Amino acid sequence: MTENILIERPADYVGLIRLNRPKQLNALNQATFDELHAALIEFAADDTVRVVILTGNEKAFAAGSDITEMQDKSAVDMLDYGEHRMQQWDYLRTYPKPLIAAVSGWCLGGGNELAMACDMIVASETAKFGQPEISLAIMPGAGGTQRLARAVGKMLAMEMVLAGRVLSAYEAESYGLVNKVVPLELYLEKAIELGQKVATQAPVATRLAKEAILKAFELALDDGLVFERRSFYTLFSTEDKQEGFSAYLAKRPPTWKGQ
Ligand code: CAA
Repeated sequence: MTENILIERPADYVGLIRLNRPKQLNALNQATFDELHAALIEFAADDTVRVVILTGNEKAFAAGSDITEMQDKSAVDMLDYGEHRMQQWDYLRTYPKPLIAAVSGWCLGGGNELAMACDMIVASETAKFGQPEISLAIMPGAGGTQRLARAVGKMLAMEMVLAGRVLSAYEAESYGLVNKVVPLELYLEKAIELGQKVATQAPVATRLAKEAILKAFELALDDGLVFERRSFYTLFSTEDKQEGFSAYLAKRPPTWKGQ
């Protein structure tokens, strides 16, 4: 039983985790994060799930980390609280299956960091993206400076983090922060459709390709190319590679084993 999230299976091979604290605009308290973490671990181990979608509701993906929970915390308290949470963020960073954020409404602070930790973002026309922590005299603490700067560049990241600029969905799309913007009534459906497209691909190739793209943000080009090439060669040892090539040449759809 979960109190702060809902777990769904909207389509074959697609798992969905819905943040469900509507009264708090899905603010991310520790209990929510613990439930999210546990659900992600379960989906990671489940062969019938190949892609995971994270979403909220129409009004909010998540309006940030829970301010009431952090209100009385000192720097020393944050060492424990933050350490536990950081391990959970790290798990997200290295998550073995593709993660898609389906975002509508407020996507702020830790909420925006959660969306950016995903691999793709589908946004409704009403989505709003920002890192407003500076107005609380703090700053982003879970990738909001690093991933945002990589996604939108230095100048805009500075404006969002230092001046609290909030981007509309179409601005976010034009700056490369989201994959696509769709009408409000379609954002979840389109995210699931995208998830289904990804889920029809061979699972091991998907996993290694995702890992290689993420390495592009960590490694120098030389090292990244070596990493990519090794993963590329590795895929030639899978049964699915034989199946993919045979199916292509026989002009029939492939059946993946994930082996
Ligand atoms: N934490 C806790 N509660 C929150 C919250 C948050 N981040 N965001 C909203 N809520 C609560 C509000 O306190 C309010 O509760 P009550 O009804 O009990 O008063 C409820 O959700 C509805 O919010 P509003 O009445 O404020 O709704 P609004 O539509 O008028 O405004 C908003 C929406 C602009 C998003 C506004 O709620 C807001 O500014 N929220 C805070 C956003 C923020 O600063 N986020 C960053 C948090 S810090 C962080 O995330 C740190 C990190 O990176 C690790």
